[in-house]
Amino acid sequence: MTSIESFAILEDGSGLEAHWSDGVSLRFHAIWLRDNALDAETRWPGNGQRLITLDDIPRDTRIKGAEGGGAELAVTFAPEGKTVRFPGAWLRTNAYDRKARRSPGWIAPRIETWDGGLGANLPDGDFRAMAPGSTELHDWLAAVRRYGFAKLSGGPVESGALLKVAALFGYVRETNYGEWFEVRTEVNPTNLAYTGLGLQAHTDNPYRDPVPTLQILYCLENSAEGGDSMLVDGFRAVERLRDEDPRALALLSGHCARFEYSGSAGVRLTSRRPMIELAPDGELIGVRFNNRSAAPITDVPYEDMADYYAAYRRFGEIIDDPVMAVGFKLEPGESFIVDNTRVLHARKGYCGTGSRWLQGCYADKDGLLSTLSALESKVTGAVGE
Ligand code: FE2
Repeated sequence: MTSIESFAILEDGSGLEAHWSDGVSLRFHAIWLRDNALDAETRWPGNGQRLITLDDIPRDTRIKGAEGGGAELAVTFAPEGKTVRFPGAWLRTNAYDRKARRSPGWIAPRIETWDGGLGANLPDGDFRAMAPGSTELHDWLAAVRRYGFAKLSGGPVESGALLKVAALFGYVRETNYGEWFEVRTEVNPTNLAYTGLGLQAHTDNPYRDPVPTLQILYCLENSAEGGDSMLVDGFRAVERLRDEDPRALALLSGHCARFEYSGSAGVRLTSRRPMIELAPDGELIGVRFNNRSAAPITDVPYEDMADYYAAYRRFGEIIDDPVMAVGFKLEPGESFIVDNTRVLHARKGYCGTGSRWLQGCYADKDGLLSTLSALESKVTGAVGE
């Protein structure tokens, strides 16, 4: 455990710099520290929610003095004359004093990108072991966070069983396709998913805003020839594109594409979002890729459209590169969950004798991450709204 060895108040009390025993030094602004004060007048002890607005903090807030060291610092603010204690570990966890700017397409450290080299080592879990609070549930949810997908075996072979998978961590997101939808061959399909055609790797429903962030596909029958499920890590595809051609990343992340679906009566869904979505600081946060629902792209300047299309084509080639995919054939009672903002799924065509019957539903990633985080911290108090 590192401890605070020394600290210094910065010019005119505008901030504070703390030095830890492991050699780390971090600066914090006075206004930032005051806004994030942990005392009971600033945050409700029961739920951790902030009781004040920024307007309650004097504009000329500065640090008047500080004392302590080791495990915590006590900081006194002027003009309020208020003293607040900050644990050193809390300061480290919430530090923002980074030296280097991050380059476009950087990926959060908890995420591990992959390609077909994963082979048979696919993240997997056993439905029968997924008791609330169990290590098995934790590990399965953590795999979804890290790899963007996980398989699940040992589930019941009964219609609607996929709802029990969603209930392990959160709630189903209902759409115009229903609480869940049937994925099997139909005579007059409202969606090409309901045919025996192969489907290029895609994310689902990019025509929604926001998109469904998780999808569960659950197998009830799969005796037809073919119909294997394939998954591709869209974040790895973005990494490859960025490394080959940074401008291609800039084009696909810097302009909105458009997506649409109007395949059934009373439904006309449209969205305008980039195929590769970066946060304002360049973090890679989402991929939308779906040839079936791509609408005319109208928001790329004429001078850039040819290059945009070249980047779009190359991104698709990387996604289709066989070395990128992992594949498996689901057996009845098996399912998989994908982070639909990251991992693309595909299906090989199927035909002939036998049958293929999957059920699919959507759910929300924030709920999954919340359940996982609560399992990790065992803290019941919430900070929200
Ligand atoms: Fe799909």
